[in-house]
Amino acid sequence: MSTTPSRGMWSSRTGFILAAAGSAVGLGNIWGFPTQVGQGGGAAFVVVYLACIFLICAPIMAGEIALGRRTRLSPVGSFATLAPGGRWWLVGGLGVLAGAGILSFYSVIAGWAVAYVWFTATGAVTGTPDEIGRFFGEFTGNGLVSAALALFVIGTTAAVLLGGVRTGIERVTKALMPLLVLLLIALAVRAVTLPGAGAGLAYYLSPDLSRLADVTVFTSALGQAFFSLSLGMGCILTYGSYFSRRDGIAASALWIVALDTSIALLAGFIIFPVGFSIAGFDPTSSGPGLIFTVLPRLFADLPGGQLFGGAFFLLLSVAALTSTISLLEVPVSHCVDALGWSRAKAVGAVAGVVSVFAIPSALGNGAVAVFTSVPGLGIGFLDLMVNAWNEFALPVGGCLTAIFIGRIWGVERALEELRAEGAWFPAPALWAFLISWICPAAIACILIATLASML
Ligand code: PHE
Repeated sequence: MSTTPSRGMWSSRTGFILAAAGSAVGLGNIWGFPTQVGQGGGAAFVVVYLACIFLICAPIMAGEIALGRRTRLSPVGSFATLAPGGRWWLVGGLGVLAGAGILSFYSVIAGWAVAYVWFTATGAVTGTPDEIGRFFGEFTGNGLVSAALALFVIGTTAAVLLGGVRTGIERVTKALMPLLVLLLIALAVRAVTLPGAGAGLAYYLSPDLSRLADVTVFTSALGQAFFSLSLGMGCILTYGSYFSRRDGIAASALWIVALDTSIALLAGFIIFPVGFSIAGFDPTSSGPGLIFTVLPRLFADLPGGQLFGGAFFLLLSVAALTSTISLLEVPVSHCVDALGWSRAKAVGAVAGVVSVFAIPSALGNGAVAVFTSVPGLGIGFLDLMVNAWNEFALPVGGCLTAIFIGRIWGVERALEELRAEGAWFPAPALWAFLISWICPAAIACILIATLASML
């Protein structure tokens, strides 16, 4: 077990919370959550999502931080150290792949967000809802532009990682997160007071329980919960490996969960009231373009809309960057720890591979037919990536992590780490029950039901 001081530490507990929140808060909250609520049946999805967050993800979050801090290693090393000789390191390996896989499509959406800073600030995207929709279609249909933007995002992420990031992420998150929250609150207030907002609020808040008969609501809510909290792929584990033993894990985990979930819920309070207030627009069938078609409409009618729009997409781009950094960090630190590569070589190699895989997602929005509708599947390559990584790889990783903590490492030892130095840890028996039984069983049931529904 290595505790090399050169690994470095977060400056304080707040430093860790800021960095982990920087990883968690991103496109998942503001792009992913409303998109999934729209596709997944509104409030019924929200209910399942919240259940996944609190019953499944929050306990796993504490567990991942504890694993990282105990071993002070990146995911593969953590699993291998605590279960020598076994195959558990493969769970870490899956996380390494997931980090690269998620980044490949995430960078495409982040690239769109970057472009929309310019489009909204300059007033290039405005007009009727139809015009705004057409603008988005034409913009994303140009595969070269989308690909160039995605490569820009991956390049920027690589550059930041090479520059030694830890205190940088802390500082950026500390400055920008409060601004993002304030702006979201202001926009939500505006959104819910728009004429016609009521239908959106009803869709978002009053659940149609008949939707729960559809297993895909559970699959996408579970996947979205893991994705939004950066869980199930060793990212929070890696950040936990820099966490001081003097600080409490439970309180930090709860802060991150609360902040991340509040920001996602806030985004819904903007998108649905605005979306439903637009005559003739159906927010439930617009897919990955939802926020890019709804928000410019909001900014178009808002006094100072260009300023608010530019600021919004700028903050979103920065929030996305603090997430892409954490996504790239997992495969990079693996290559450094396990293969002995220099950091520069690891960053270059991983960023190169991710860039190649980003291309089909960038070209799959109208530019190239086989990626726009993958033969035999009928969905675009980008959606395929969301399904494969978010809805499959992350929950599988989370399920195996829970089994590992409950059965291999053991709840007793995990609790010892969680309560080290007398740290506050509420309801240990409940946590032990959730991590050993509810997390693995619930995830397995959802995954099995999903696979069965596909046959
Ligand atoms: N949680 C991030 C978001 O919501 C995405 C992410 C997933 C980051 C997994 C790291 C690991 O945007």
